[in-house]
Amino acid sequence: MTIEDRDTAHVITHALARDTLSRLRDVETEQVGFRKGLVKLGRICGYEIIDGSMETEYVEIQTPLETTMGERVKGLDDVVIVNVLRAATPFVEGLLKAFPRAKQGVISAGRDEEAGMAEGEFPITIDYVKLPEIREQDTVIVADPMLATGSTMCAVLERVLENAPEPEHLFVLSAVSAPDGLIRVGEQFPEAELLTVSIDDRLDENGYIVPGLGDAGDRAFRTT
Ligand code: URA
Repeated sequence: MTIEDRDTAHVITHALARDTLSRLRDVETEQVGFRKGLVKLGRICGYEIIDGSMETEYVEIQTPLETTMGERVKGLDDVVIVNVLRAATPFVEGLLKAFPRAKQGVISAGRDEEAGMAEGEFPITIDYVKLPEIREQDTVIVADPMLATGSTMCAVLERVLENAPEPEHLFVLSAVSAPDGLIRVGEQFPEAELLTVSIDDRLDENGYIVPGLGDAGDRAFRTT
């Protein structure tokens, strides 16, 4: 398993995850490369979640030559992935390669950048929520490639958890995160397992992660 425990989060240290994130950070990586990189990183993170948190069971299988014992991952039907629109869309596409039978939810949440950041937080608007039923046995993965101030993630988690039992696992998955955001989410949702590929240095005055990779949504959707 290539997950290291740090004070604020579990960090996925797989060499391919680090390689892919470095390509995403590169300002020369254009839209198609960026989107493909997010898909790839989502797939790697999905495999790491399976390896780090899911059990396998032994099953008897018949090969073309004889009967032998094999293994199957348990619980792959009990996975819920929440796509925090919009930057998470390619990231979730990658996660779905690891969890093809996952139930999916979407939440359109974003920070009001015109209102600006006050005390390290942005006001958050939620425009659309569609979530599947969450059950106690579920592994819930709330995916947003960028965990910056944590304000959006906290608003999203409130909606995900309202009227839901505490699931078996609640992963908050990001590619890049800022220390302040991890602390905020960890304090408000101690039941969440925070998983990231990188804990970066800081937030700038506009709430961007530094060194970060810029605006993930704009780079993936070519909206600048
Ligand atoms: N969202 C992004 O896309 N990038 C950041 O650095 C912070 C939030």
